[in-house]
Amino acid sequence: MKALFLNGPNLNLLGQREPEIYGSMTLADIEGMVREHAGRHNVEVTFHQSNHEGELVTQVQQAAGNYDYVILNAAAYTHTSIALKDAITGAGVNAIEIHLTNVHAREAYRRKSIIAQACIGSINGFGVASYILGLEAAILHDKANT
Ligand code: DQA
Repeated sequence: MKALFLNGPNLNLLGQREPEIYGSMTLADIEGMVREHAGRHNVEVTFHQSNHEGELVTQVQQAAGNYDYVILNAAAYTHTSIALKDAITGAGVNAIEIHLTNVHAREAYRRKSIIAQACIGSINGFGVASYILGLEAAILHDKANT
């Protein structure tokens, strides 16, 4: 199984960005943790981060046929990007939405996810474990559907 972890804007700043909210691990630390877990489950993972909406759209489009799952922390674009939602639907990829924080327990503008409609499901609020849970969700979904 192949999974693409796509990370949106400002997630390159993890570790220094509001650590009281997002924790102290960097995106590279999270990637290492995910790779270790993926290795134990025979999952091939690719990690990518972009601050640019169009780049994320292109990545989602190119994932079609190349990855079984896109595990997506779209960050702020979660709440604004019709383009990303359309890319997931249009490319027909299996997407799982993840967030470090519980977006429903934060500012009102974070409670709405535009991409949620296009995703299989979403995981939020478990800190860096949301990435592992996203991977587990993909593994279990794959088992149930193949
Ligand atoms: C986030 C939540 C978003 O609302 C925010 O814009 C982020 C990170 C999270 O992982 O908790 O950048 O996606």
